[in-house]
Amino acid sequence: MNTKKIKRLGILTGGGDCPGLNAVIRGVAKPAMNDYGLTIVGIEDGFEGFVEGKMREISRDDIAGIIGQGGTILGTSNKGDPFHYPTEGMNGVEIVDASQRVLKHYKGWGLDALITIGGDGTMHISNKLAELGMNIVGVPKTIDNDLDATDQTFGFDTALSIATEAIDRLHTTASAHHRVMVIEVMGRYAGWIALQAGLAGGADIILLPENPFKWESVMRRVIERSTRGNRYSIVCVAEGAKAADEEIVIKETDVKRTDPIRFGGIGEHVGRRITQETGLETRTTILGHLQRGGSPTAFDRVLATRYGTKAVELAVNGEFGRMVSLRGLNVTSVAIKDAISKQRLVPVDGEIVNTARAVGTSFGDE
Ligand code: F6P
Repeated sequence: MNTKKIKRLGILTGGGDCPGLNAVIRGVAKPAMNDYGLTIVGIEDGFEGFVEGKMREISRDDIAGIIGQGGTILGTSNKGDPFHYPTEGMNGVEIVDASQRVLKHYKGWGLDALITIGGDGTMHISNKLAELGMNIVGVPKTIDNDLDATDQTFGFDTALSIATEAIDRLHTTASAHHRVMVIEVMGRYAGWIALQAGLAGGADIILLPENPFKWESVMRRVIERSTRGNRYSIVCVAEGAKAADEEIVIKETDVKRTDPIRFGGIGEHVGRRITQETGLETRTTILGHLQRGGSPTAFDRVLATRYGTKAVELAVNGEFGRMVSLRGLNVTSVAIKDAISKQRLVPVDGEIVNTARAVGTSFGDE
């Protein structure tokens, strides 16, 4: 524990945005200003902004009324990992180590500590910056819910409710037209959104990245339903899902991104194959960034606020190199280096998958 009293606290949002970021910023800034008399320095546009020296002090007015706002008042970026920083060189984009520029700004702005709000990419970077001597506390964010060291990241609950509502809406139009409806949801390598939105929305088939599917199993279920007189089917596909004998379908790779792979396209692929192989009329919806936009649910607002206030407590107590975490009903903390050691994936033989199987959901693996 570091007992030096902190006065200037930096805060940064990194990676893709998600609903609840502003609630964390507010949850940090209010107690930091009101109870501990700290100055809050907002770093703009994530680590990219940190390297480029973009910051502003956060006032009480900045944080008024933001608990229910989506996005982030600080801006964010999923490019600009300081340790693999993309710059325009003689031969196009070159990757350089810009971590010393971050350190220089940290010291130059007189920061005593920094709160980083982000997913696994942000936590990996935070861990390396902590090794360079920066006092960091992490807050886990991502709609993917794929950090093992916390029971839940904020943003997931909102994404889940948006995806569930989308599936509910697809039921009515699917039933009116007697169609197969495929919906592709986000989550990268983790199928939490697909699994839980699929279960909550009563999808007939759920395809997960953790459980490569068999085409014949998907077709069999769709045809069975049609033959039985169920005049429509709903297929919920995680963007990272893949057929057993195929590769993940990706939209593009971009070396500037912290994670170069951009997922997307499996929904269309599944929809096309279903039409080709069953002759049933099929439509595909890609839910995309709607899952990250707009106002956070009450659950995410509360969780984000709890995470924010806990992060300040850790910073003020000098407990650096730690990430706040939800364990059961309690907010606690774990070492960032332990938090990044394992991704949280859907256990294919776990209780939630088995629950879905028990109510007749196919995972395309029978
Ligand atoms: O990690 C969050 C996430 O929304 C993923 O589910 C998705 O694959 C990715 O970010 C999309 O990133 P971008 O906003 O850069 O397209």
